[in-house]
Amino acid sequence: MAATREPDSEHARSAGASDPAGADGSASRRGKTVHGDAANAGHRVLAPDDAEVEAYLETALHAPPPDREAEDRPAETATDTVVVLDFGSQFAQLIARRIRELHVYSELLPHDTPWSEIERRAPRAIVLSGGPSSVYDENAPRPDPAIWSGKIPVLGICYGAQLMAHELGGDVLPSSHREYGPATVTITDPRDGGLFGGIDRSQPVWMSHGDSITRLPEGFRPTAQTDSTPFAGLEAPGRNLYGIQFHPEVVHTPRGRDVLRNFVLGIAGARAAWTPVNFIDTTVAGIRDRVDEHAARTGSEGKVICALSGGVDSAVAATLVHRAVGDRLTCIYVDHGLMRKKESELLRVTFERDLGMNLVMVDARQRFLARLAGVADPERKRKIIGDEFIRVFEEEASRLGRIDFLTQGTLYPDVIESATSETKTAAKIKTHHNVGGLPADLRFQLIEPLRYLFKDEVRTVGLELGLPEAMVQRQPFPGPGLAIRIIGEVTAERLDTLRDADWIVIDEIKAAGLYRSLWQSFAILTPVRSVGVMGDGRTYANVVAIRAVTSEDGMTADWAKLPYDVLGKISSRIVNEVPGVNRVVYDISSKPPATIEWE
Ligand code: XMP
Repeated sequence: MAATREPDSEHARSAGASDPAGADGSASRRGKTVHGDAANAGHRVLAPDDAEVEAYLETALHAPPPDREAEDRPAETATDTVVVLDFGSQFAQLIARRIRELHVYSELLPHDTPWSEIERRAPRAIVLSGGPSSVYDENAPRPDPAIWSGKIPVLGICYGAQLMAHELGGDVLPSSHREYGPATVTITDPRDGGLFGGIDRSQPVWMSHGDSITRLPEGFRPTAQTDSTPFAGLEAPGRNLYGIQFHPEVVHTPRGRDVLRNFVLGIAGARAAWTPVNFIDTTVAGIRDRVDEHAARTGSEGKVICALSGGVDSAVAATLVHRAVGDRLTCIYVDHGLMRKKESELLRVTFERDLGMNLVMVDARQRFLARLAGVADPERKRKIIGDEFIRVFEEEASRLGRIDFLTQGTLYPDVIESATSETKTAAKIKTHHNVGGLPADLRFQLIEPLRYLFKDEVRTVGLELGLPEAMVQRQPFPGPGLAIRIIGEVTAERLDTLRDADWIVIDEIKAAGLYRSLWQSFAILTPVRSVGVMGDGRTYANVVAIRAVTSEDGMTADWAKLPYDVLGKISSRIVNEVPGVNRVVYDISSKPPATIEWE
């Protein structure tokens, strides 16, 4: 029987409900499986803030196809693994993150991952995500049936639970009462244990489904219900199978984390050992072994380079590698002059003075300015900057002699979003910016110490490594820097103006305690001049725009409802302190249709 429902029903919103993923959740409107279409189709760079610099390198150094390690799990650690199978839910990544918050390593795999691949990871548990399909759809995504064997505990969430019921002989039907948004679940399991151990019998939860389970398969019993769903929870403990209709991973299910904890740590008995300290120890040891082994085998020195961008990813990656190989690592920082105030200095102090790293700081400011002279078109600016970056980097790298490894700050979302190509980040940016690679005779292997981490985990590791807050918590910053925030030609004078205005924005946003709640907050120097009056005189000076947005991942964004007094302070400080600016405006456009950056 074919159930009719909206194909995208899992993404529907109840009226007035906010993002259930919560402030630190995944994108609420993304709505594509992370293994499916590119989530950023039609958009610009996804912008992990260091991706740009590193993609330039891959391009420049002709690394692709990069020599990556075949192993796709972190180095041997004391941690256990939970596999999350992705059935297309917008929350699939979030499930993996929530499990990691329990200090258990979790990995997101496509729903049709063969059992042999799952088994190879020796997971302690498997979680089936929700998804927009109906189990009766002709092409409904299905897992390898071996997962029902009971060898490994399985928790099905929403579509995952329906699939469990359907595949094992129960019934799933389109329900007369679709449930989207908040609901109250009553736990009917008479025991205080299992999935709902320690949780009050009546619980607010987040629902998002059109179909419902109407009959349980043989051997299953109900554990929870709502007014419209008799089987909001089901289990067959003897077969290691558990299901819930609601979403435990979103913040609108306040005790959802406890349900996940009960499953992962309780039922599955996973050990909570995925901690920053463990990660650092095993990663550092793994890198050291790999570099030593390579050096011994090839008779090389095992030299490593890393490009620092000022962002958190390259900073953390470099610090981990430095702990592993010390002086064999050289970091290169190309100062293109398009950075914000004090950023280059913070970099020098942190890496050279405090961490004692070999740091090559290249003052390329004049070179970039010369090439950008007279250029107003944003895409040409990007191309020039990428191209010049490669030239400078290559010149510097070639001075270092033979290099064996290149460190990259690839993050886990880049890895899981790239089911096909390992170099998608590079490809994406390459096509967008059309960066022309230069021939190079250097061949590197890649060291990617962050490829198992989500961004928030990178930050935690960065703090654990002792990196400064200002670097670890930095908002994303585009590779082409201030050049794409100066509308029109980039000149030294206009850069100074923007840098001063931008500094005030950051300063006041931080002083108001808002910096970390915003995705980005910055100033734009517009080409508009307007009339003003200062003292006794008439002025005709620049208009600066302020942009502050909230966002989960930069794909969609809302303009931030900054308090008027903060906006007022920023405005008056800019007009008073930055020469050549007499007017400040606030950008109240959301994305889409506007983009976050103005160029
Ligand atoms: P837009 O302006 O497209 O920006 O809404 C989305 C995110 O991408 C960043 N961005 C860039 N990052 N190189 C980068 O490395 C670029 O050319 C670029 N353009 C935009 C932007 O800051 C935001 O976080």
